[in-house]
Amino acid sequence: MKGIILAGGSGTRLYPMTQIISKQLLPIYDKPMIFYPLSLLMLAGINEILIISTERDTPYIINLLGDGSDFGVKLQYKVQANPNGLAEAFILGADFIGKDDVTLILGDNLFYGDISFFKDAVVAHKSRSGSFKARVFGYYVEDARRYGVVEFDRATGKVISIEEKPQEPKSNYAIPGLYVFDSRCVERAKKQKPSKRGELEITDLIQTYLDDDELGVGIIGRGVNWLDTGTPDSLLEAAQMIATTQKRQGLMVGCIHEVGFRKGFIDKTKFLEAIERIPKGPYKAYMERIVNEDEVEI
Ligand code: TTP
Repeated sequence: MKGIILAGGSGTRLYPMTQIISKQLLPIYDKPMIFYPLSLLMLAGINEILIISTERDTPYIINLLGDGSDFGVKLQYKVQANPNGLAEAFILGADFIGKDDVTLILGDNLFYGDISFFKDAVVAHKSRSGSFKARVFGYYVEDARRYGVVEFDRATGKVISIEEKPQEPKSNYAIPGLYVFDSRCVERAKKQKPSKRGELEITDLIQTYLDDDELGVGIIGRGVNWLDTGTPDSLLEAAQMIATTQKRQGLMVGCIHEVGFRKGFIDKTKFLEAIERIPKGPYKAYMERIVNEDEVEI
């Protein structure tokens, strides 16, 4: 399983914060936003990741994350010249994906809590058991009209319908910006036509799997927080959630170096070397503290 983080876009709702910098580089409390989707992929065992961003922002993201070796991930980068839609990720990522399965996560989607829903989906996808060749996730929300909405069969996990921002939603389950596909998504994306708003829509790509009866859904439990951090309010709420959690537990959320170490992507020697390179401050101090703590759950 490979991973793609789509971290471009215009970020108009966060203007003027995004006038000169990608929203994915704005802070969520004490880390750049992109650390959170990146750590989610890593926690599910994904360590080959393509980051797609704008021409303006890609050099900054490269500056921030490099080749990923400090935290045990093979990172590649690709520029998306214009925000032509989410499904373009698979065209830009065609060579990277090759014959592998791929998870796409949007750079402004933050999940916190028990993420077994995602780990299970990755395992199920890898094992190729069942007929699902693509998976979306469903998150219960009060008002589903603002989201893509999934209607599904509870017993089988099979998707019955997906609708984009419906007036009368068929369920309360919104679809977050996290999707798992087999490698055929590349060919399917290449065949897509832009929508009325001029974008290659992810919903249209997902629909092709639904038409072939190959689309499954993973339900995200109530213990998980899902936030799309694309507005000033959600940015603040996310920061407060991370701060509250971290202060209570004394453990960081989305610390990619820690995740790389605990997942065994890097050994202790490499972890210690990486810590060396980090400037003095709370992030370094945290890692110096946890390097010998074996009893912490990841
Ligand atoms: P959106 O939030 O839909 O768009 P945006 O980031 O441009 O923000 P705004 O609506 O405020 O203008 O994008 C969701 C995520 O997908 C976000 O992380 C940016 C990314 N994205 C791309 O990288 N390329 C694209 O073509 C699009 C549409 C989004």
